[in-house]
Amino acid sequence: MAIRPILHYPDKRLRIPGKPVTDFGPEFQQLVEDMAETMYAAPGVGLAAPQIGVSLRLFVIDVATGDDEPSDLRVFTNPELLELEGSVLFDEGCLSFPGAREEIERAERVRVRALDRHGEAFELEADGLLAIAIQHENDHLDGKLMIDKLGVLRRRLLHRSMVKRATAAAMA
Ligand code: NI
Repeated sequence: MAIRPILHYPDKRLRIPGKPVTDFGPEFQQLVEDMAETMYAAPGVGLAAPQIGVSLRLFVIDVATGDDEPSDLRVFTNPELLELEGSVLFDEGCLSFPGAREEIERAERVRVRALDRHGEAFELEADGLLAIAIQHENDHLDGKLMIDKLGVLRRRLLHRSMVKRATAAAMA
């Protein structure tokens, strides 16, 4: 297993939409392992393939919190959001926006259909943090980022602070 570097906004590769996964062979299994390891190391509750520069429709989520709770890794391949219900404001972070927290409006409940890491189809109804994470990670597969959901002023502020951070990191 290996930890892969996570791309940070405004890296343009975050805008490349993912292609459907068709091959669930060893290379894909390795990718899933690497994504889980990268997410846990960050640490984060979700990671989408485009965030490590891989343009595939794949994300991993683990919303188990706390050391005494067993891990609950979920793999979503070629996901489709079938139903969105209700609306809720949630303070979101993103591994591609280090240090940023933004209040974002999301559906409260979702029904999603996806394939697991072996290509087996499943359907899931989710609410709470899992529902938020599914919507957030699913956006990444279309090259959409949480900054897109902000109003003009907050979008500009976040953009500027991320560009400043990226410039400082490049000069370090
Ligand atoms: Ni994200």
